[in-house]
Amino acid sequence: MLLSGKARLAGVIGWPVGHSLSPRLHGHWFERHGVDGAYLPLPVRPEDVELAFRALPRLGFLGWNVTVPHKEAAFRLVDERHPAAERMGAVNTVLVLEDGRTRGLNTDGIGFLASLRAQAPAWSSAAGPAVILGAGGAARAVGVALLEAGVPRLRLTNRTPERARALAHELAAFGAPVEPVPWADREAALSGAALLVNATSLGMTGQPPLELRLDRLPAEAVVADLVYVPLETPLLAAARARGHTTVEGLGMLLHQAVPGFAHWGGVVPEVDEALRGCLLEALSRR
Ligand SMILES: NC(=O)c1ccc[n+]([C@@H]2O[C@H](COP(=O)([O-])OP(=O)(O)OC[C@H]3O[C@@H](n4cnc5c(N)ncnc54)[C@H](OP(=O)(O)O)[C@@H]3O)[C@@H](O)[C@H]2O)c1
Repeated sequence: MLLSGKARLAGVIGWPVGHSLSPRLHGHWFERHGVDGAYLPLPVRPEDVELAFRALPRLGFLGWNVTVPHKEAAFRLVDERHPAAERMGAVNTVLVLEDGRTRGLNTDGIGFLASLRAQAPAWSSAAGPAVILGAGGAARAVGVALLEAGVPRLRLTNRTPERARALAHELAAFGAPVEPVPWADREAALSGAALLVNATSLGMTGQPPLELRLDRLPAEAVVADLVYVPLETPLLAAARARGHTTVEGLGMLLHQAVPGFAHWGGVVPEVDEALRGCLLEALSRR
């Protein structure tokens, strides 16, 4: 990689940050689009996150992504927030504006929807209720995105029922009915659903399996898993075996990166097979 003195700079802050796939993802796009620039992993300790937010714009960075554990701090530290970040209470992408001010985005919701539309093009928000398993940050992002897309009804089920109730209460502000369902009744919640989304960490390599029989899920329902290690989770394998259209979690990871690169790379990048292959290769080395 040859950089000029005018190279466009971006990166990802996290602690630790070594596991992040973002340098690989954005690095692929810098190369693919022939942009004079670089995207760096930036290990930032929790006690230094404020310092990093002050320093990076002054060092010429055009923006950065934010990963664990800095997403809530980022929400607080940006100068202004995009409405989607406001609704999600977390920031995963920071853009440095021309005047040096910082703008916080949360691109998880639009990343999920773009991935859903790409992998399940026949899905329509009007098709029927959606069921979300989980009540963490990813479930919130998916819930907001689906309600904004016009899903008529949402069912939320989570191991810790208070979290499902709290999130259902919050999401009810969007107007459509949002129903918390006890974790023990999660299979019954699948009746009549048009979309099932796993937004828990269950099924991820090293985590317990997701125990869920799909018998009550209508044949035309789409099944999405946010987990992408492994790429084909047991949930997706079971869904595919029953003939459901499935949506893998890697798509969301790729699509959520587009708005950031469009800003610091200056080009709206493509989410294509070459990018997917590059990330799969990085994942296979782990
Ligand atoms: N594809 C992508 O781009 C993308 C983006 C964001 C997240 N994700 C994935 O989405 C998943 C959730 O992420 P997050 O940020 O929302 O994490 P989080 O805020 O920590 O939430 C974790 C969720 O998993 C549930 N859970 C964990 N262990 C469980 C168990 N043993 N039994 C039942 N439920 C359990 C938690 O339930 P409790 O509330 O009961 O603890 C909670 O609902 C992760 O696998 C993450 O990698 C993927």
